[in-house]
Amino acid sequence: MERYYFDHNATTPVSAAVLEDFLAVVRDVHGNASSIHHDGQLAKQKLEMARRLLAGLLGCEPREVVFTSGGTESNNLALLGAMRNAPAGKRHLITTRIEHPAVLKACGQLEREGVSVSYVAVGSDGVVDPVEVRRALRPETAMISVMHVNNETGAVQPVEQISFVAREAGVALHVDGVQAFGKVAVKLNELGADYYALSGHKVNAPKGIGALIVKKGSKVGPLIHGGRQEQGLRAGTENVAGAVALARAAEEIGETLEESGEKIRTLRDLLEQGIVSRVPSAWVNASRAPRAPNTASIGFEGIEGEAMVISLDLKGFSVSSGSACSSGAVEPSHVLLAMGLDAAQARSCLRFSLGRGNTLAQVDALLDAVAESAAHLRRLSPSYSEQ
Ligand SMILES: Cc1ncc(COP(=O)(O)O)c(C=O)c1O
Repeated sequence: MERYYFDHNATTPVSAAVLEDFLAVVRDVHGNASSIHHDGQLAKQKLEMARRLLAGLLGCEPREVVFTSGGTESNNLALLGAMRNAPAGKRHLITTRIEHPAVLKACGQLEREGVSVSYVAVGSDGVVDPVEVRRALRPETAMISVMHVNNETGAVQPVEQISFVAREAGVALHVDGVQAFGKVAVKLNELGADYYALSGHKVNAPKGIGALIVKKGSKVGPLIHGGRQEQGLRAGTENVAGAVALARAAEEIGETLEESGEKIRTLRDLLEQGIVSRVPSAWVNASRAPRAPNTASIGFEGIEGEAMVISLDLKGFSVSSGSACSSGAVEPSHVLLAMGLDAAQARSCLRFSLGRGNTLAQVDALLDAVAESAAHLRRLSPSYSEQ
């Protein structure tokens, strides 16, 4: 059976050009970038070229790029590394209710360490209001942390305005850019964030590489202790092949961002319109928000999202439900709950996230499969009756 992949917000396939560069480094560059001999310097050269390329694409300085293992580590480094090094008395952090667990769990850890955390609410469109962020400021606030694009709904957050709030108040700004990088234009010189986190495997690079952009002058300490790699912020022998792959992926995706973004948006919109017109009582979450072009979060009244994921999987489609399975129970998505959906509505939602490989024929096939699965599951559903 042919398989169609509609889960690019979870991870992406490695592109052919990126794989080629990655494998060339794995094969030909075996030195340790900290060694002073020829082999070491060759590795160092590759690493620094990747750093310069990525910095140029993002609009920051090469020495502001800290390579990490991925988005989770980058977010943890920014939050824990900055809050643990904040001046005495600055023990308050502002974040939002729709962040990824890589931020929310790091905030939970900070709370256990005595930091007070404010979780700002979002509107029914899934967007944070900068006024609410400003309202949460206290004299002891050290940092604001907000995501650029939400991984479940695709809603783009007003990071420029929140950056203004942060600068006005003199507090640091961390932006989780994992789902924005490669989907919307990221210009760090205009954004004004002190920390910006990104991840390779969301942009057609391999898993195990990411970066945290740390603005010059930021007060942050390492989480991993050892050698002096990555400006002393991330000890451990560098993943040179990963860094080269990440920079190449950023270059490749940047070259076609607008063009492929438009194509993907057209397919996404066709998918949403098709589902809403063919499946009764289906709705699109965050439809009024500015959104990344590839993400559709859709609710199917009376259906369990997990059942729909399995049903579509059996038909050859990889999609994701908004809910997470923890301790054997299916928990409704905290993002959808924060937007005002009730638990049953949140559990009925599916996330479709498109990528550059998806085609109109695949979307058409997915539409047929969704309509069929929804009708079938509703016949079995005790909680759904057609009006
Ligand atoms: C918004 C967001 N932040 C952080 C992460 C974590 O990134 P990684 O999987 O590279 O650790 C993800 C991954 O799903 C994400 O969507």
